[in-house]
Amino acid sequence: MKTFKRILVTSALPYANGPLHLGHIAGAYLPADIYVRYQRLKGRDVVYICGSDEHGVPITVTADIEKISPQDVVDRYHAMNKRDFESLGISFDNYSRTSLPVHHETAQSFFTVLYNQGDLTVRTERQFYSEASQRYLPDRYVEGICPHCRYDKARGDQCDKCGKWLEPQQLVDPKSKIDGSTPVLKETRHWYLPMGRFADTWKAWFDSNKWKENVRNYCMGWYNEGLGERPITRDLHWGVPVPLEEAEGKVLYVWFDAPIGYISSTKEWAENTGSPDRWKTYWCDVNTKLVHFIGKDNIVFHAILFPMMLMRMGNYVLPDAIPANEYLTIEGRKISTSQNYAIWLKDYLKVFPPDPLRYTLAANAPEGKDTDFSWKQFQSRNNDELADILGNFVNRTLTFVERYYKNQVPSRGTPDAMDRDLLKTIGTAPEQIGGQLENFEVRNAVKTFMDICRAANKYFNDKAPWETRKSDPEACATTLNICLHVVNVLSMVMAPVLPFAAKKLRDMLNTDRALWDDIVAQELPAGHLLGKSQILFEKIEDNIIDRQIEALNAMAGSQEESAESEKPAEIDFDYFRQVQLKTAVVLEAEKVKGADKLLKLQIGLGAEKRQIVAGVAQHYTPEEMIGKTIVIVANLKPAKIRGIESNGMLLAVRTESGLRLVTADGDVSPGLSIS
Ligand code: MF3
Ligand code: ZN
Repeated sequence: MKTFKRILVTSALPYANGPLHLGHIAGAYLPADIYVRYQRLKGRDVVYICGSDEHGVPITVTADIEKISPQDVVDRYHAMNKRDFESLGISFDNYSRTSLPVHHETAQSFFTVLYNQGDLTVRTERQFYSEASQRYLPDRYVEGICPHCRYDKARGDQCDKCGKWLEPQQLVDPKSKIDGSTPVLKETRHWYLPMGRFADTWKAWFDSNKWKENVRNYCMGWYNEGLGERPITRDLHWGVPVPLEEAEGKVLYVWFDAPIGYISSTKEWAENTGSPDRWKTYWCDVNTKLVHFIGKDNIVFHAILFPMMLMRMGNYVLPDAIPANEYLTIEGRKISTSQNYAIWLKDYLKVFPPDPLRYTLAANAPEGKDTDFSWKQFQSRNNDELADILGNFVNRTLTFVERYYKNQVPSRGTPDAMDRDLLKTIGTAPEQIGGQLENFEVRNAVKTFMDICRAANKYFNDKAPWETRKSDPEACATTLNICLHVVNVLSMVMAPVLPFAAKKLRDMLNTDRALWDDIVAQELPAGHLLGKSQILFEKIEDNIIDRQIEALNAMAGSQEESAESEKPAEIDFDYFRQVQLKTAVVLEAEKVKGADKLLKLQIGLGAEKRQIVAGVAQHYTPEEMIGKTIVIVANLKPAKIRGIESNGMLLAVRTESGLRLVTADGDVSPGLSIS
């Protein structure tokens, strides 16, 4: 394995467009923080970089909806997210923001270098433009009727009803979302990164390293499709202006500027440490190990686009590891911010301390596959593991020493077999857990840790010091000495995942910071006076958890309700008139072989005769059908149903007892229009 002198860790810059939820935390922030805290305790040179991603269309959409400026939007969420990260103990060395001048300059210099060395291509295309607002409309800013399902609020990039991916030009009756006007198509020029041109170099680099499976799969998928040319500019007023005179009114594409934010944030950090040039030691020196923590939706940008940009810049380090995580579901359901189905970090922090969440998410990290967070599981991790195992062991050890040894470390006699066993387990803990953390195996590290706590708890039981205290005082002292040693080592190996409890524990032990590798050897000396003991983890009562579950259900329920009670869109008469309804008489009817719901009907519409297939066989026999005057949609596109041509659709009512045909009252001729 390559050895490095320093480590540069990044977590995906979250959009300053909304609050953080548990999915964010489990994916890109907590695993990174655990890794960084571990590296710091190892005494390594590590810098942890993040910040707000303050550009991109979603931010301008929010601003337009709320009728405030994009800057107001990002100011609000930047401050909120920064504070919530802090409360959770996410220990960035710097949390910057991409609206800062240092970032604009850095991103522009990337564009300029690539442009000057001929790495960019330029093309003219046609895009929707609102004459009323005098601006080009990004895909999401155009709304219209979906050509596939006729949903009337389809966005230019996607239809939320049928889920189909759209190009804005496909929308029927397109309208500008900003001003309601009908946009026109207008020519515009954009700059592209011809990624295909650099694909071979990228591939050679990519193949020279070992990547996590999901990273490799996503990238190979993209690569095999052909990387093509990707536009890196946009017609928008919010973002980093393209540094070319001929590109006035255009900004850099957010996925071009955002990853550069890692560099600008490092520059800001260096500036704050008083050595402005120090950022280069991290970004431009081959001895740096660069690690990007992200969620899986960000893979291609971190493993292909950004490395390619860095390669073309020359003289930059490329990522050595990209521990991309899968998704977290909540109570078995996908998180959806647009449907407001999420557990928001700020809401969690109002009720609970940070460590139990860190522990639960780490124990159940979506490393290799999607995992689920449930409140019951959270409660059980807290009560049955943190409180009943770790907390209990620490508490009985410390109170025992407080009560019977004047709160001083008793001395160790000759260890017996059981003592030696536990000493061995705890002696190898830092190395074992450290190895797992080094490999981004947080789940395993947590499991190893809790298994050790279990062993220690069992040891205390088996040793029964409350008995040996009288029967064999030397053995009792040895037991407590060893228990304190275990607590001391635990306070180190738990620190990456449980930093707040670890700090409390070091205070209770009345001891200073130590390094990961020294902790086993640095035993607390006999006679060392301990601090005051306190409870490490409070149990969480059922009613508190029930309240959380109710709140979540209310969120989910209100969504379903609103989807159901949502009124269908109003249509105007011209639209309705396009649907041709006609009366028809059933002339022949027969069952369709192999399809117990279908009847094949020959129907007459005055002079015209045609065939339709109808799903009424379970409610009408062929004989009952013949002679009935029914109503059909006459201008439906012909379709094949089970291989049989159908030229229309009959109308029927779905009642509780089955389908009933819509028929005309009285003596009505076939082939008449209905209006
Ligand atoms: N804002 C993006 C997201 O939340 C992540 C940007 S990561 C960066 O999906 F590398 F571009 F900064
Ligand atoms: Zn649709």
